[in-house]
Amino acid sequence: MLVCNVVGARPNFMKIGPVVQEIARRGLPQILVHTGQHYDAEMSQVFFDELGLPAPDVYLGVGAGTHARQTSAVLVAFEDVCLRSRPDLVIVGGDVNSTLGAALAAAKLGIPLAHVEAGLRSFDRSMPEEINRVLTDHLCDLLFTTEASANDNLTREGIAPARVYFVGNCMVDSLMRHVQMARRRFPWNAFGVAPRGYALVTLHRPGNVDDPGVFEGLVQAINRVAALLPVVFPMHPRTDERFRQSGVRLAPAVHIDGPLPYLTFIGLLAEARCVLTDSGGVQEETTALGVPCLTLRRNTERPVTLQLGTNQLVGTDPERIYRSVERILAGGEQTGGHPPLWDGRAACRVADVVERWASGGKGEAVDRALLPAAGGRGS
Ligand code: UD1
Repeated sequence: MLVCNVVGARPNFMKIGPVVQEIARRGLPQILVHTGQHYDAEMSQVFFDELGLPAPDVYLGVGAGTHARQTSAVLVAFEDVCLRSRPDLVIVGGDVNSTLGAALAAAKLGIPLAHVEAGLRSFDRSMPEEINRVLTDHLCDLLFTTEASANDNLTREGIAPARVYFVGNCMVDSLMRHVQMARRRFPWNAFGVAPRGYALVTLHRPGNVDDPGVFEGLVQAINRVAALLPVVFPMHPRTDERFRQSGVRLAPAVHIDGPLPYLTFIGLLAEARCVLTDSGGVQEETTALGVPCLTLRRNTERPVTLQLGTNQLVGTDPERIYRSVERILAGGEQTGGHPPLWDGRAACRVADVVERWASGGKGEAVDRALLPAAGGRGS
């Protein structure tokens, strides 16, 4: 039984990392493949170092490109890996182009496939991630979900509930394991801001940064927020490039930086007064930490963060964003609780299922007796 884990882009590392570690702890043979979608040290290597991940066994070096080029480069290169190493199970995570490329290669070779963070849906096909999510899920044999909406989405799409395992959130495993250590590094000092005294901003979605009108509106909103409290803004390479191209300027109270290492970022996240983001993962991390989050999008594929967490969808209108921050500073933030199974043990549940599945016999159907009792609603 050989498990092949695939990672490619920054948000994969903290989701698949705990699974790799848990599978290693149980002594199951595995390999780790890095597609190289994200290749800069600060987008990739630093996460391996800080999360304590083993070096990838295989690095595909696909790099940047259009969606078709990037996805097809992963498809071709990962097929070779599968043909060489003949894994019995491929595990992919999240919704990036690497996820879909690797999933497609495995499925076409008839290799059983598992998806960590299955079933999330924004119902917005203009997001490349939505296409990656839907297609990956429909290729999978084992689907590991983070929230109840994902179970419902998969059922609605006709995926057999017996394949679906509600395991919780592997990214929250990473967060819980590292956040105290991250706080003890006092990452806010480097920006000259105080705990609970700054807003943290992340922005990288093509829909927000590639459209000049939307981008300028968001910059205007961030500059207005900076008049209320200092802003820390670590910049994704795509966003950095848009700033260079557009010539729009940020106010002096906005402290900019490049992509931050994991521990620096989650330390800043944990002590932010509020967070403004268009990231999927950050919506979940703020909910897990109880930090108010304003999501600069029209939709979210993670509705549990709105229902049970600290997240609010505010869109991209500068006035609405500014008013929402004002409300938070006046004490009107949305408080939240912990979504079910976001308890630091999700990867353990994934590994339980993988182990049971493996003992059910290579290439055979999953042993029905080991499957979740309530139609995929519990592990
Ligand atoms: C990808 C994911 C997105 C995820 C994001 C997190 C897809 C479709 N999108 O978007 O879901 O939220 O990662 O960061 O897979 N670049 C660098 N250095 C790097 C990596 C990228 O400079 O290490 C540059 C590339 O040259 C490219 C741009 O950043 O111009 C975008 O990279 P890409 O991997 O295409 O997508 P992301 O926007 O990062």
